[in-house]
Amino acid sequence: MNAHDASAMARLRADFPILTQRVYGRDLVYLDSAASAQKPRSVIEAMRATMETQYANVHRGLHWMSERATDAYEATRDDVARLLNAPDRAEIVFTRNSTEAINLVAHSYGRGVLRPGQAVLISEMEHHSNIVPWQMLRDAHGVGLRVAPVTDAGELDLAAFEALLADGRVGLVAITHMSNVLGTVTPAERLVRIAHAHGAKVLLDGSQAIVHRRVDVQALDVDFYAFTGHKLYGPTGIGVLWGRRALLDTMPPFLGGGDMISSVTFERSSWAQVPHKFEAGTPAIIEAAGLSAAIRYVEAIGYDAIGAHEARLTDHALARLAAIEGVDIVGHAQDRGGVVSFTLANAHAHDVATLLDRQGIAVRAGHHCAEPLMRRFGLDSTARASFGLYTTEAEIDALAAGLERVREFFA
Ligand code: ALA
Repeated sequence: MNAHDASAMARLRADFPILTQRVYGRDLVYLDSAASAQKPRSVIEAMRATMETQYANVHRGLHWMSERATDAYEATRDDVARLLNAPDRAEIVFTRNSTEAINLVAHSYGRGVLRPGQAVLISEMEHHSNIVPWQMLRDAHGVGLRVAPVTDAGELDLAAFEALLADGRVGLVAITHMSNVLGTVTPAERLVRIAHAHGAKVLLDGSQAIVHRRVDVQALDVDFYAFTGHKLYGPTGIGVLWGRRALLDTMPPFLGGGDMISSVTFERSSWAQVPHKFEAGTPAIIEAAGLSAAIRYVEAIGYDAIGAHEARLTDHALARLAAIEGVDIVGHAQDRGGVVSFTLANAHAHDVATLLDRQGIAVRAGHHCAEPLMRRFGLDSTARASFGLYTTEAEIDALAAGLERVREFFA
């Protein structure tokens, strides 16, 4: 993958059928990959082939088709374990998305292991999915909630972060690995070291980070890692919680039902081993096939190439947007991924997004499910352009040209 090699990029983009769509008579310029990424043909094909050739319920049937479906579903667990460098495939729990993965930890680890009087530490740049579950835990279970501030540059205030851990009452740090608004990549290894030194476990929300860089849970030395399939070029409806086996083993189930038990009587039930203890009900079988294909697609391109491509795009976008009169970039972290939030003077972000949309350019606008972060920067919304491995410099140029037109409209 080389962005300067136009034919290589054209071949890569041809893997994504939707990118040939036209909207309002113009080529689609899709700059909303942080909300959800587009899908390569291999993902679409894997899901279709599953339904056409090897579909049945998993873990239940004694028939040939169910065994094939079970093997394929379980093979995706191996793919995820390889992607994360997890030491044990049983540590991979399939969920619906990152939100459910975080809720699983909040309910199961939060209520089952944390004690009232302990606290969870999050940051000011969390997505609502890494705020609300902890508020629910606080209100139901008396576990406190602390919030580490971010600096004006949009980086985590490390001194304040450490100070919030000093009394040893924080049992769990739950923090983003990359902000969906600011693009900030948090210094995860350092955060984990600091948290562990103060006796806290760490959950990283990797929804954005895993799209852009290699994640090695052993090198990070983290305790839980959550991500979702649909941002990683896979389907909606499947996400992952990785957790250390020693922790998962001690945690009570989250949802009860079929497939998560070892035996059931009306008096009591006992639980299956991990990961099945946390996978109640028929799982996302077809989506697992798609996730497997997505992981293989990303691995085939390689995180080095993806990271280098997106770093070039992000530098280009920051330079192009900063040169437009009235545009303010929100977030100036040193270490950042392919997400750029901005405001335009005298224009509401929703209007900016709508006028860009009429030019075929898809960006997200609003609070990006991070209202407290908006408030931190004195804003109610931003427009946000976010990049994927298929994004081109020409699309960034189209955004810049489109924004110039929006600016003239409001001038
Ligand atoms: N969390 C996704 C986003 O940032 C939906 O757009």
